[in-house]
Amino acid sequence: MTVIEVEDLRKNYGNTRAVDGVSFTVARGETFGVLGHNGAGKTTTVECLVGLRKPDSGTIRVLGENPARRRRALAQRTGVQLQQGELPDRLRVAEAMRLFAAFYDRPDDWRAVLERWGLGPIANKAFGDLSGGQQQRLKLAMALVGGPELVVLDELTTGLDPVARRETWTLIGDLKASGTTAVLVSHFMDEAEELCDRVAVFGNGRIIALGSPRELIGRTGTGSLEEAYFALSGEGR
Ligand SMILES: Nc1ncnc2c1ncn2[C@@H]1O[C@H](COP(=O)(O)OP(=O)(O)OP(=O)(O)O)[C@@H](O)[C@H]1O
Ligand SMILES: [Mg+2]
Repeated sequence: MTVIEVEDLRKNYGNTRAVDGVSFTVARGETFGVLGHNGAGKTTTVECLVGLRKPDSGTIRVLGENPARRRRALAQRTGVQLQQGELPDRLRVAEAMRLFAAFYDRPDDWRAVLERWGLGPIANKAFGDLSGGQQQRLKLAMALVGGPELVVLDELTTGLDPVARRETWTLIGDLKASGTTAVLVSHFMDEAEELCDRVAVFGNGRIIALGSPRELIGRTGTGSLEEAYFALSGEGR
């Protein structure tokens, strides 16, 4: 079954063509990577997927719904970690998890999610007192507490230390094993190669390449997704 269908999506901000004719599909259970340079249109695209931005044109179906019209219904079935998005400084970790769980009709046990993400020892800390990586972990845990069918994670591991990054990979592996569909926006090619079934490489609001990491590596005659990325995007030269 197709979980996400995007057809000729376009979104401008004034004169900026942020998303300029993007089409792709994501199948149930798939982990789909969204790659590309700063300003390529990745965040704008995923914000349209979750109904936070209204496309100028094109069609989007997420879990069979139009996100621009059915954002609330979709929010029950989707976990979102946005690139931007702060929590109140004084909100404590456990409070944030409890509050988020309460938004869902059938949430997971928030205490268990908190433990699974290594947040137990800092459960009573205020958001404003957490390190950048701890804040990131909390946002990830909050994206998963609703037991979503689809998770959309924008810059999953940005700001995490190498150990936390690897731990996150393991947790995403668990998520995959549970059949959850995932969209991961990332600047880390090793991460995308390890975790993603397919990736879309964005450039200037368009998709310039789409395929499994293995296909893109094969197509470019390179040895890694990172090398394939440079070959396909023409960046770094
Ligand atoms: N709220 C906004 N108002 C005006 N322009 C915006 C806004 N958000 C994004 N843009 C512009 O739209 C383009 C795409 O931005 P977007 O945030 O989608 O890129 P991105 O691929 O997520 O980049 P990054 O890797 O830096 O997060 C950029 O040129 C950006 O400057
Ligand atoms: Mg972004």
